[in-house]
Amino acid sequence: MFKLTAALVFAVACASQVIAHGAPPSGAAILQRREHNVLVGRALQRRCGATLAKRKAERMRKRAYNGLSQFKRDANDSLCILTPEVTQGPYHILGELVRQNITQSQQGVPMELDVDFIDIDTCEPVSNVWVDGWSCNATGVYSGYEAASAAANSGGTGAGGASSSASGFPSGTAGGQTSTASGAYSGADSSDSSIAIDAPGDSDNFLRGVWQADESGHLTMYSIVPGWYSGRSAHFHIKVYTEGNGSIADNATFIAGSAVHTGQFFFADSFMEQVGNLTPYNTNTVERLTNDDDAWFAYENAEGYTAEMDIAVTDEGDIMAGVIGSITVGLNLTYSSVELANYWWAGDSELSSLAAASETASASFAV
Ligand SMILES: *[C@@H]1O[C@H](CO)[C@@H](O)[C@H](O)[C@H]1NC(C)=O
Ligand SMILES: *[C@@H]1O[C@H](CO)[C@@H](O)[C@H](O)[C@H]1NC(C)=O
Ligand SMILES: *[C@@H]1O[C@H](CO)[C@@H](O)[C@H](O)[C@H]1NC(C)=O
Ligand SMILES: *[C@@H]1O[C@H](CO)[C@@H](O)[C@H](O)[C@H]1NC(C)=O
Ligand SMILES: *[C@@H]1O[C@H](CO)[C@@H](O)[C@H](O)[C@H]1NC(C)=O
Ligand SMILES: *[C@@H]1O[C@H](CO)[C@@H](O)[C@H](O)[C@H]1NC(C)=O
Repeated sequence: MFKLTAALVFAVACASQVIAHGAPPSGAAILQRREHNVLVGRALQRRCGATLAKRKAERMRKRAYNGLSQFKRDANDSLCILTPEVTQGPYHILGELVRQNITQSQQGVPMELDVDFIDIDTCEPVSNVWVDGWSCNATGVYSGYEAASAAANSGGTGAGGASSSASGFPSGTAGGQTSTASGAYSGADSSDSSIAIDAPGDSDNFLRGVWQADESGHLTMYSIVPGWYSGRSAHFHIKVYTEGNGSIADNATFIAGSAVHTGQFFFADSFMEQVGNLTPYNTNTVERLTNDDDAWFAYENAEGYTAEMDIAVTDEGDIMAGVIGSITVGLNLTYSSVELANYWWAGDSELSSLAAASETASASFAV
């Protein structure tokens, strides 16, 4: 539950970022949104429920970890609903390597990402989608933005800095104003938003990469359980492109067309507590927020969606041996999810220059 103390901390943090981004929602508004999410979830008409639940059960059986699912979320993916759109934040980098394993020697709990993509119109799998995945490392640092994220985590003023803002808020659709609506698109980026994107400061690329789902809309990628950083709970970012919207360059990097979805996967608090006790996560000096205190979690859970992955521990009693995180993502195939990074954009050059123009001296988002 959302606690009063958390609401106060939150409110104070919000106050400090008003200058940069207009008025963020109050703690009460976030709470209200969460309650709304629960009500919508309960009231949802269940479409294709049996088919979807069966598909998930089959997958679990095939992978033989059904009995090991220790951090099972309260959802069996039987709802054919849209996965809400949530900001990509300032740390997305286009043109990353096409590879299945993005670990690149980063220390942490090995994680197999096990994701199914379905079309919310038909409840059928979406074949061969491209998935760009990225996260911070166990101590909260994003490759490409190491100086900025490290400074933020030690209380500096970089993105996610404790002293600058507790969290980034959705730019909403009203010219950068924070959205207080609670629909599936209220956390979406928009091309007229004021989100500040900084160009990468280094050329590292650990925990970043693009891989393709198979014909049955199933994606398998390898990474580590993300750590956390100032103002956020642990999360893993994705951007999704339909088959025709992606290709591979000669140098094995991804050429992106228009994305259909941008979002973030979350993890059960009870799971992250255990992860937090393990090396090297226990050397992370930044306070980890719980999901209920994370401003983006409620947006990603809008309209009845469950944004936490199911976590199966491959060796019970030894999380360090690895986990499998699974989740189903419902796609709206006619939606176009904007790209605001100014790094490299093979798609819409107009959007690209728009993003470049909106780049400001201070990026004070934690996303
Ligand atoms: C999945 O959840 C739905 C809705 O709660 C329920 O009707 C259905 O029986 C469940 N299916 C399985 C296989 O657990
Ligand atoms: C992924 O790469 C890491 C090294 O970066 C390696 O330790 C791990 O075994 C690889 N995972 C798989 C499933 O191959
Ligand atoms: C995370 O990345 C930073 C920058 O490369 C590095 O200094 C730090 O040691 C990494 N954390 C872990 C746990 O390896
Ligand atoms: C790219 O995706 C958009 C939706 O974002 C879709 O309308 C378009 O048809 C796709 N293009 C190709 C070549 O598949
Ligand atoms: C890889 O190729 C793409 C497309 O030609 C190019 O834009 C990009 O700069 C190249 N990346 C590297 C690291 O050379
Ligand atoms: C899917 O995206 C289209 C285009 O943005 C939009 O008109 C439609 O309402 C969306 N469908 C749902 C279920 O959100």
